[in-house]
Amino acid sequence: MHQPRRLGTSDLTVGPLSYGCWRFAGTAVDEARAKVETALDHGMNLIDTADIYGRGGAGFGAAESLLGDVLRAAPALRDRMIIATKGGIAPGVPYDSSRTYLIEACAQSRQRLGVDIIDLYQIHRPDLLTHPAEVAATLGELVELGWVRNVGVSNYTARQLDALLAHAELPIVTSQPEFSLWHLDPIDDGVLDCCTQHHITPLAWSPLGGGEIANDHAIGAALDEIANAHATTRTAVALAFVLGHPSRPVAIIGTQRPDRIAEAATAADLELTRSELYQLIAAAGRHLP
Ligand SMILES: NC(=O)c1ccc[n+]([C@@H]2O[C@H](COP(=O)([O-])OP(=O)(O)OC[C@H]3O[C@@H](n4cnc5c(N)ncnc54)[C@H](OP(=O)(O)O)[C@@H]3O)[C@@H](O)[C@H]2O)c1
Repeated sequence: MHQPRRLGTSDLTVGPLSYGCWRFAGTAVDEARAKVETALDHGMNLIDTADIYGRGGAGFGAAESLLGDVLRAAPALRDRMIIATKGGIAPGVPYDSSRTYLIEACAQSRQRLGVDIIDLYQIHRPDLLTHPAEVAATLGELVELGWVRNVGVSNYTARQLDALLAHAELPIVTSQPEFSLWHLDPIDDGVLDCCTQHHITPLAWSPLGGGEIANDHAIGAALDEIANAHATTRTAVALAFVLGHPSRPVAIIGTQRPDRIAEAATAADLELTRSELYQLIAAAGRHLP
């Protein structure tokens, strides 16, 4: 069984699976509430969103607003969830992690979510044009202001995270890379090693490759073979693969179907063997001489 994860060195503990709100904007509040409640009921207490989720559809801020609407309809849910959101993607720019931008972005996220304090605030993508000292100082300021409990990053390379850590006076508790059998890079590009080195919890986004995993023949065949051996499903095996990495990632799933949220939750009870994990790595195309 995959144990709950402490978020870095924080005092927050979350289930090994998390629910992500990227695809969730544009639906009715009742429908959104059903997804969030199903996730919470299945131990996914980290709810991950971002200010930009909804752009291209219901609009920038729409996913945060919808989660805020769910909380306004059912305020008791707030105590059951750890809210993670992100800022720093500025439409048309495209990235801005300057102090001026992030302070305003975070203020607006709090407003849309309807919360005084955000449990985890993440820099969504590295801003190549802001000095890491300014980013670190701004994250510290957000905590000082009482707007944010903990801070993290997303889509940072190991070197970018190192550069931020060199200036940070507060712990960076999470790093959110894309990580799945569909996108294995973090296992050997240093991102997950950087997490273990600095006691940072990886939050793996698109752990099913956004649904693409099923389209890869070799990966699909290996998933089916292992799923049959454990009397479980492909999805559970693909998620258990992510959870099985020694950096102890949290896998952020994104299905819009409550039945699939429940199916994904079974991965928390599925521990793959060392040879099964390597079988999957090989099926995903890594040469293992
Ligand atoms: N930091 C970043 O830059 C970043 C980027 C992308 C995502 N994220 C985070 O990661 C979260 C998850 O991303 P994701 O939605 O791409 O994750 P995912 O769980 O890998 O993919 C979910 C997609 O796969 C489809 N799918 C097909 N078969 C499925 C099955 N058997 N079980 C479950 N899903 C199946 C789902 O469709 P149905 O809805 O029809 O089931 C949905 O479209 C996001 O919500 C967000 O919080 C972060």
